[in-house]
This record gives sequence, C-alpha cells and structure tokens, in this order.
Amino acid sequence: MKTVINSIAGHLPTKIVTNDDLSQTLDTTHEWIFDRTGIEKRHLVSDGELASDLGLIAARRVLEQVNFDPSGIDAVIVSTTTSDRRFPSCAARIQGDIGAKRAFAFDVGAACAGFIYTLAIADSLMKSMRLQNVLLVCCETLSLFVDWTDRATCVLFGDGAGALLLNAADDSSESGLIATKLYTDGSKEKYNSILSHSGPQNDHRGYTTMSGRSVFKYAIEYMSASMNEILDENGMTIDDIDWIIPHQANRRILESLCKIKNFPLEKMIITTQNHANTSSASIPLAMSSAIRDGRIKRGQSILMTALGAGLVYGSAIIRY
Ligand code: UT7
Repeated sequence: MKTVINSIAGHLPTKIVTNDDLSQTLDTTHEWIFDRTGIEKRHLVSDGELASDLGLIAARRVLEQVNFDPSGIDAVIVSTTTSDRRFPSCAARIQGDIGAKRAFAFDVGAACAGFIYTLAIADSLMKSMRLQNVLLVCCETLSLFVDWTDRATCVLFGDGAGALLLNAADDSSESGLIATKLYTDGSKEKYNSILSHSGPQNDHRGYTTMSGRSVFKYAIEYMSASMNEILDENGMTIDDIDWIIPHQANRRILESLCKIKNFPLEKMIITTQNHANTSSASIPLAMSSAIRDGRIKRGQSILMTALGAGLVYGSAIIRY
C-alpha cells in the first residue's frame, strides 16, 4: 500500500504586516529583516482568530477541491504547537466542524518539523490500521506566542495553515510517499523554546525564545545530514529529486542547504519572503502554492526537510 497526496491546500489570514510596518513600533528596519532572513512580509491572525480557525478553512478547501465527502475520512491528524487551548485538541474541533463523523482525531506537537512528523505518523497508521483516507492539517499561530517587543524573535514568524487529503493507493501507483525519517536531539532543547515567565506578567501563554545563531547552525547541519541519510537509505541521489521543499525559517539557511547539496536554488520552493516562518504549516503552504502556480507537477519527486524546537527534525521523499 502507498500513501498518496490526493489534494493539498493552504490558507493564510487576511491581515498582512510588512517589515516597514514592524519598524514603526520596533527598533528594526526592513533592510535588517530582509538581509538576515529573506522575509518581506507575513500574514497574522486578527483578534480572536485561533489556530483551528485557520486549519478549518484549509481543511474545508482541501476537501472541496476534490469534492470529497468528509464522512469518508478515517482520521484527522493536526500538527500544531500553538493550539487554541490545552484541550480539547484542534483536531477534535476540525473533525466536528467538517463533519468527519467516522474519523478519530488528535494533535501532534513537533514544532516546525510537525509536518514531517505527522506525515510519517499518517503513513504508518494508514498501513498498520488499514486506513483509506486521512486528513492532515498543519495550523499555526506563532504570532500569539511571541513577545511583540522582542525584535529578535517577533519579526521572524507568520501565521497560516495547510491541509492534505491522503489516500491509500495500491503498490502499483506511480505517486506515493517513498520514505520518511525522523530525529530528535533533546540535548539542544534550550536553544528554542516557549518560556512562560518571559512574557508580560499574568499572561500564561508563554513567549518564544531562541538562540538564533545556534539554531541557524544546527538547522543547516541537521537538515543536510537528514537529507543525505534519507537519499542514501532509499538508493537515491540528489539528481533524482525535482524539487526540495524545506521548512521556511530563513532564506540564508535554504541557500546554504542548496550549496551543500549542489542543488539549483531555483528548484527549491521558497516562500519565506511572503509567509515568514509559519512553523509546521510552512511546507504544505509552500507546496500548495508551487502546485497552484504550475511548478510542481504530478509524477515529480520532492524532498522535504524541516527542523524545529526540540531540536526535532527530519526529511521525507514523495513522488507527487
Ligand atoms: O523555525 C525553527 C528554526 N529556526 C531557525 O531556523 C532560525 C535560525 N536563526 C536565524 O534565522 C537567525 O539566527 C536570526 C534571523 C534569528 C538572527 O540572525 P543573526 O544573523 O544570527 O543575528 P544575531 O541574532 O546574531 O543578531 C545580530 C545583531 C544583534 O545586535 P548586536 O548584538 O550585534 O549589536 C541583535 O541585537 O542584530 C540585532 N538584531 C536586530 N537588529 C535589527 C536582532 N534582531 C534584530 C532586528 N532588527 N529585528
């Protein structure tokens, strides 16, 4: 059995904030943000808008695109580290609101690597539990978990959601997931976390802290190592890959990965400039935009890689 992407969609909140907008209230400039990260703007949620609201729109869109009856969904798996509430899960809300009556639903927290983690989990459950149709949703509102007076972190993030409808196909299918590979290096957890005492008093939500330089260094080292391993283990080389879709934290990290892998930058899907870092939603958002604009086509091989707080990281190869 092979896990195939039937349909993919993204959703971005309507409010757009540019670097120049941020420089009105922060000691920063468009030049600093753009030169260091490649980010030009980001979409942010409005008052009262939460992660599951974004995920729900992406989920509805992905089903409507292929006219899929929600009662045919076996499981709803949501990747989020910015859940609306500690419980119930975003997945439960989305399952209920789309009317996926037969599906079980749960959230996964693997920070910016959450898409790779949920893809691996979905594939594994589809095989072990013989599921036919899984709805995978990544929905993130990091803007609600940053300190908007801390220029070192708040300029980096955006909000958004991506959704995929995964189907079980038989082994003869040309399309399908080829492999996933997951890693964690918990000894580096101090470099990127949410510290509840770092925000304003009486606000229990917590705020993101990051040792940017350390995470930058490990992002390049670990993502390139995980890409090497997944290619080697599957008897492939970078020449077998049509597109790389990385987690979109920083354009300079992505340029370094291309250099290390000797891979043309124009064959890497980069949305950092428009979306900023939308955590686990960044890969599905990038993928859906590259399918929409005609770059990614059915039958092409895609290598995905991500790293996030934990440090958790991993890669996946799929033939779309
Ligand atoms: O998604 C999870 C994975 N996350 C990542 O992959 C992020 C990895 N890290 C990065 O992307 C980069 O390290 C950052 C973009 C976060 C920072 O870039 P950097 O080149 O590593 O800068 P830095 O943190 O070393 O800061 C350099 C200077 C500092 O000033 P001093 O100490 O040299 O005087 C900062 O205070 O830039 C200053 N700075 C800013 N200046 C203007 C930090 N943030 C800003 C800002 N505007 N927004």
